[in-house]
Amino acid sequence: MKHYHHLAAAFVALGVTGLMTALSPTADAATPDGKAVFDRNCSVCHSIMPPPKSAPPIAPIASRYRQQFPTKSQGVAHMVAFIKSPSKQKVIVDRQAVDRFGLMPPIQLGNAELNAVAGWVWDQGAAKGWGPGSGAGRGNSKGNCNQ
Ligand code: HEC
Repeated sequence: MKHYHHLAAAFVALGVTGLMTALSPTADAATPDGKAVFDRNCSVCHSIMPPPKSAPPIAPIASRYRQQFPTKSQGVAHMVAFIKSPSKQKVIVDRQAVDRFGLMPPIQLGNAELNAVAGWVWDQGAAKGWGPGSGAGRGNSKGNCNQ
């Protein structure tokens, strides 16, 4: 009897793993956790605070977005568009970063995850100390969303 028990448990475990593989990462789950999406898909390149890994850290990126966009929803919309298909024209943070690190590759995620992670990134800009100064002014001018 014990054997059957173990076998059943193994099948259940396999089933759950299969389901999770099928659902992630493109499924639009109700409200994905932005930080969890970041840890899985972004943290390999982006640290939150300096020093940088292989991309600019998130806190200064978030501050830059807050300077460029009057509302969170506009900033998140631009960031989502950028993550889906980065291009030099869309870069608002630091074009020199493209030369230094290379252009970010597109990240394949569902819209719910993209919005969650972009909203989370935006929220990381709340901390003081990343304003203009230490190079933040070297970006390009505003309004290049439609270029
Ligand atoms: C393979 C490495 C890599 C991964 C993974 C990655 N990025 Fe990036 N990212 C970069 C690099 C390099 C840059 C700087 C050059 C550029 O702007 O393309 C960048 C720039 C950015 C910018 C600034 C764009 C702008 O408007 O100037 C944002 C925002 C960003 N990443 C968010 C994310 C988020 C969110 C994720 C996860 C969903 C992510 N990145 C995953 C490498 C990465």
